[in-house]
Amino acid sequence: MKSFTDKTIWITGASSGIGAALARALAPRGARLILSARSADKLEAVRQSCSRSDEHLCLVMDVAEQASIEAAWNRLQELSYPVEMLINNAGMTQRALVTETGMEVYRLLLEVNFLAAVDLTKKVLPQMLERGAGQIVSVSSLMGKFASPQRSGYAAAKHALQGFMDALRAEVQAAGIRVLVASPGFVNTDVSRNALRGDGTLHGKMDPSQAAAISAEICAEQIIIAMARGRAEVFPGGKERIGLLLHRISPALLRWVMRKVQVD
Ligand SMILES: NC(=O)c1ccc[n+]([C@@H]2O[C@H](COP(=O)([O-])OP(=O)(O)OC[C@H]3O[C@@H](n4cnc5c(N)ncnc54)[C@H](OP(=O)(O)O)[C@@H]3O)[C@@H](O)[C@H]2O)c1
Repeated sequence: MKSFTDKTIWITGASSGIGAALARALAPRGARLILSARSADKLEAVRQSCSRSDEHLCLVMDVAEQASIEAAWNRLQELSYPVEMLINNAGMTQRALVTETGMEVYRLLLEVNFLAAVDLTKKVLPQMLERGAGQIVSVSSLMGKFASPQRSGYAAAKHALQGFMDALRAEVQAAGIRVLVASPGFVNTDVSRNALRGDGTLHGKMDPSQAAAISAEICAEQIIIAMARGRAEVFPGGKERIGLLLHRISPALLRWVMRKVQVD
């Protein structure tokens, strides 16, 4: 794929899971990577594991902190890094009922899964428009299309992300900017371990559906193929994607299924 040769790609949430897999798969395709997340050590390990590791930059950033986003962006400007592709992948899910979930947890889920992507997109977009080329990828979820119990804040944030990216695509496609929303089903990563409970503590468990899911590498590969083809949407995952079909052809049946879903 020539699409990524010598392209500078900023990946958020690159310290683990899907983000790390995207980094490892994009590096051998010739991309220069900017790798962001909170954990400096994990980011450095991902950078070292990428081919042509010297060409990639680790940029520590907490997307829940405005000051941290500004500092990271200012650093990129100082280095005159042209961001030609942005992958908004940093995310955090939830394992708690509405009645158990504090407002601080809702705010954090919105900051990390939605508002940070808006902020970063607005930062890189003017330069992309000037160049008349660029790609914005946002890693949403099937929960950006429909919702299941114990994920009210996560589903709300991913629905917001989907809406924002759909509007953006309509605005910038004619100017040469591609917008891809990736909506995975279950992927075998630490996402359930890192999920927030209602009081903001970590769920800390690998859910069985996550453990049995497709690998982060398969998910990353499907996202990269969709990027190269300039697609608008991609849905990596397994049989849980039947939910999408039900959502389209029988929303009432999907609502019935969701009432029966038991989430631990
Ligand atoms: N795995 C799935 O089944 C699944 C399904 C659908 C969608 N997704 C989406 O895929 C994306 C990647 O998740 P994953 O499955 O790879 O889970 P993961 O292994 O937990 O990775 C999450 C990434 O986001 C980063 N992150 C979390 N909070 C952050 C913050 N405040 N500031 C900066 N970075 C932050 C983490 O890095 P640090 O902790 O180092 O900051 C980590 O690199 C997320 O958007 C998630 O919603 C995952």
